[in-house]
Amino acid sequence: MASKVQELVDMLNKALEMEQAANLQYLSMAELVDGLNAEPIIARLQEIANDEKEHAAKLRTLINDYLDGVPSMALAPTKKASTIEEILKANLKDEKEAVDYYAQVHAKIVELKGELAYAYHTLEHDVRHILTEEQEHIAELRRLLGWSREQMLKW
Ligand SMILES: [Fe+2]
Ligand SMILES: [Fe+2]
Repeated sequence: MASKVQELVDMLNKALEMEQAANLQYLSMAELVDGLNAEPIIARLQEIANDEKEHAAKLRTLINDYLDGVPSMALAPTKKASTIEEILKANLKDEKEAVDYYAQVHAKIVELKGELAYAYHTLEHDVRHILTEEQEHIAELRRLLGWSREQMLKW
């Protein structure tokens, strides 16, 4: 049976696969945006893509330097979208899933505190920090869509 720390490594690797896919998805979709209002949206998508790249790098460090795990090179599934609205909505959906998933990862870290000597505070801090940045992405995408908080929650 896998150790509890290995279960956490597996969860962090699933998050890493989501980040690697999100980085590619944002970069690819940024290329598809065109029209009169394209520039600020392209800039925002590329900025978020860079955040996802940094999240992936942070997760690799946590997985290997702190927990002796092997960082995954796999990608989570990506979505397809073509219009600006479809692109924003597809990514908003993914960001909500990311926040929900990081909340589970964070809870797991807190649960394993006693087994994470000399790694706990860094893991707890870094995963919580990534989670807050995903919430920021939700706020940014919602603003571009012109959606109320209630619309975002229902989507
Ligand atoms: Fe991310
Ligand atoms: Fe994100």
